[in-house]
Amino acid sequence: MGHPAVPPTLLLCQLGLAAAIQWLGLAESGSGVAWDESHHCGLLAGVVPEHFQTCRRNLEVMHSVVRAAAETVSACQKTFAGMRWNCSSILRAPSFGPDLLRGTRESAFVHALAAAAVTHAIARACASGSLPLCSCGSAPSEAPGPDFRWGGCGDNLSYGLQLGAAFADSPVKSSGPGRTALRAVKLHNGAAGRQVLSDSLDTRCKCHGVSGSCSVKTCWKGLPGLGEIASELKSKYLAAVRVTHRLIGARKQLVPKETGFRLLKETDLVYLINSPDYCVPNVPLGSLGTQDRQCNKSSVGSEGCDLLCCGRGYNAYTEEVVERCHCRYHWCCYVACKRCRRLVEKYVCK
Ligand SMILES: *[C@@H]1O[C@H](CO)[C@@H](O)[C@H](O)[C@H]1NC(C)=O
Ligand SMILES: *[C@@H]1O[C@H](CO)[C@@H](O)[C@H](O)[C@H]1NC(C)=O
Ligand SMILES: *[C@@H]1O[C@H](CO)[C@@H](O)[C@H](O)[C@H]1NC(C)=O
Repeated sequence: MGHPAVPPTLLLCQLGLAAAIQWLGLAESGSGVAWDESHHCGLLAGVVPEHFQTCRRNLEVMHSVVRAAAETVSACQKTFAGMRWNCSSILRAPSFGPDLLRGTRESAFVHALAAAAVTHAIARACASGSLPLCSCGSAPSEAPGPDFRWGGCGDNLSYGLQLGAAFADSPVKSSGPGRTALRAVKLHNGAAGRQVLSDSLDTRCKCHGVSGSCSVKTCWKGLPGLGEIASELKSKYLAAVRVTHRLIGARKQLVPKETGFRLLKETDLVYLINSPDYCVPNVPLGSLGTQDRQCNKSSVGSEGCDLLCCGRGYNAYTEEVVERCHCRYHWCCYVACKRCRRLVEKYVCK
């Protein structure tokens, strides 16, 4: 018997209306829930009825969904740490601001990452044996190499894709009429995130044999950490394609807005509207501005003071840091250090 840490009705309100990434709110609100009784799924029903059914049928999977939400939040913030838009607004989940609700590049990135994360978490959970409905399954059908054999326990990507898509896409698919362009963009970006994840499935090996001689190798198919997927998706974000939703033949499709531009690839991230530069606060556009952000004076990258402060300049201040220093090894077996104080210069945007 587990009791939700948050009263169900409150959570229901927090989750608000249906959209594809509202479930990221579970990063916080879902972590205290046991997810072992079907009434816990009522907490999700506020998002969309399909979630309720998916949840009830796969109650065990909810722990993976909650983990995926938390991993999406931290991977996004880490990946965008030095950028003008630094993903801090993802913490508002489930009541996002305009930067993530409209068809922006930033929204494209978060939708792709969230879709990849839920698939990733489920595929991993299958392999670790924590989901009764799936397993790490049999060895890949391709023949092993001359120097290794299949073994270990691979991540169950196919199961993760199946259930992950059901989870990430269902609220978009059922979000009613209107705004079909935005819906098509969300679906495309979610699928792109899953495709990038699938492409990253790789053969991983472990060596055996006398003192690590690697005379025997066992290999399996495994996924990299979500951080690696997030940086791959950040390159896609930087190269994202602006699209329109246009009637082509009998149905509407997403096509690059600039005519003559190459065709869309499955793994392209797509967006509908240009983002602000995020330099100055603008509430209707979801920009927080970069005033008081810490910047790096010697970097020419996005975290450098020039770019991050948008040419406004910066203020310097000194901060005292206390560090371990003059460490000595004592026989046997400890290290003793002194504490030193040092002044460091820091810079914040004007
Ligand atoms: C994944 O789980 C499904 C469902 O249990 C199973 O049929 C399959 O063999 C598993 N393994 C892989 C690699 O797909
Ligand atoms: C991210 O940006 C916001 C708005 O500029 C700022 O308030 C916040 O401190 C930043 N977060 C980090 C970790 O730098
Ligand atoms: C600032 O940027 C420089 C050059 O990219 C780098 O070597 C240095 O470690 C950075 N400093 C901090 C505090 O991140």
